[in-house]
Amino acid sequence: MSNDSNPVQFELMPGGHLNGQLRVAGDKSISHRAIMLSAIAEGESNITGFLEGEDTLATLAAFRTMGVNISDPKDGKVTVQGVGMHGLQAPDTALDLGNSGTSMRLLSGLLAGQDFAVTLTGDKSLSTRPMRRVTDPLALMGATIDSTEKGTPPLCIQTGSQLNSIAYTLPMASAQVKSCVLLAGLYAKGETCVTEPAPTRDHTERMLQGFGYQVQREGSRVCLQGGGRLSGMDIDVPADISSATFFMVGAAIASGSDVSLEHVGINPTRTGVIEILRLMGADISLHNEREVGGEPVADIQVRASQLRGIQIPEAQVPLAIDEFPAIFIAAACAEGETVLTGAEELRVKESDRIAVMADGLTVLGIDCQVTDDGIIIQGGQLQGGTVNSHGDHRIAMSFAMAALRAKAPIKILDCANVATSFPDFVTLAKTAGLGIQIS
Ligand code: S3P
Repeated sequence: MSNDSNPVQFELMPGGHLNGQLRVAGDKSISHRAIMLSAIAEGESNITGFLEGEDTLATLAAFRTMGVNISDPKDGKVTVQGVGMHGLQAPDTALDLGNSGTSMRLLSGLLAGQDFAVTLTGDKSLSTRPMRRVTDPLALMGATIDSTEKGTPPLCIQTGSQLNSIAYTLPMASAQVKSCVLLAGLYAKGETCVTEPAPTRDHTERMLQGFGYQVQREGSRVCLQGGGRLSGMDIDVPADISSATFFMVGAAIASGSDVSLEHVGINPTRTGVIEILRLMGADISLHNEREVGGEPVADIQVRASQLRGIQIPEAQVPLAIDEFPAIFIAAACAEGETVLTGAEELRVKESDRIAVMADGLTVLGIDCQVTDDGIIIQGGQLQGGTVNSHGDHRIAMSFAMAALRAKAPIKILDCANVATSFPDFVTLAKTAGLGIQIS
């Protein structure tokens, strides 16, 4: 599963533009949740549009190891034979979740209430990521979970006793922590509530309701009663707005571009990138807006335009949390200064996305200043050079798009993890007009 020892580099020719109608990879967040909830539902669930990326395949493999019958994904179609809330079986090995923070944080909640012990492990990057944010609330619910002294994986979840419900206020805006507590709450006695400091993606709440499980939302508080059941259903996973973002930014910055991204999820808790790019002057239009299985979807058209630097509104930060590496590339191509604040969470993603992006932008000749909770980027002329993605998929894909406006070739190191979220990225990017090769 791990890509720790698998060097892949991207080589980019400078210039060009993007055109065409593209369907990017399936939504990663929704694909994870589709497997998890189908597995503990009663009856069969049929998933279409499933992301066949390494992260979501890690979740799928984990449930197979716990005895769930799941078909081999083919063209985004997967069938899950749900085992019911109490039908998971003790795995005979640790569950290796690769690079996937979502798998580890959501599974820790879902598994805390099972009557078996289980260990969750991951690759080099996941093994450095903070897990106290999930083990702390789960301990309050009565779970016993061991981690390293630093609060990092592996997580050893002890055989659960009956969990207690809690009313928990999230210390940070995190959909993974919210989802972890809600999934544990399914197995707790009484009502579990989570209050969030700012809106975060709500796919867990929406999908639970789709599976027939009641979830109440009042303002920033979400509550559910433990002890209910889920009924299998059909799930149509939209294309991932986080994957669409690379093409949105590429089209916005490269003169002559006009791309249409089809069937993209535009859940309002995910559309910060559209707001931010529009504030920067991007030409983005939504077509054919519709709702598919409880999630809003649209075709997104982006045409090139001159961007300008902005102060990014802090309220948009959690709504665009995965899109900042690409937004930084847009800022580098904008006229004037872009200022990001309130984004300290970027430091604990698959890499420290503020530091790693700043290093790469500097190599490419862009003036930027790192701050505690963000970055200040001066728009300028991108040069060529070699940048290191540090195994972070979103950083690799963002710098690939930077080549559209660079003066000379760009080489990007450590790109294997692009396969975690967007296995067809290179093929699709080439089709759209990006001069990209793998070496
Ligand atoms: C995710 C939530 C976000 C996001 C991650 C996916 C999810 O993480 O960065 O890629 O599916 O719930 P945080 O909850 O840590 O913000």
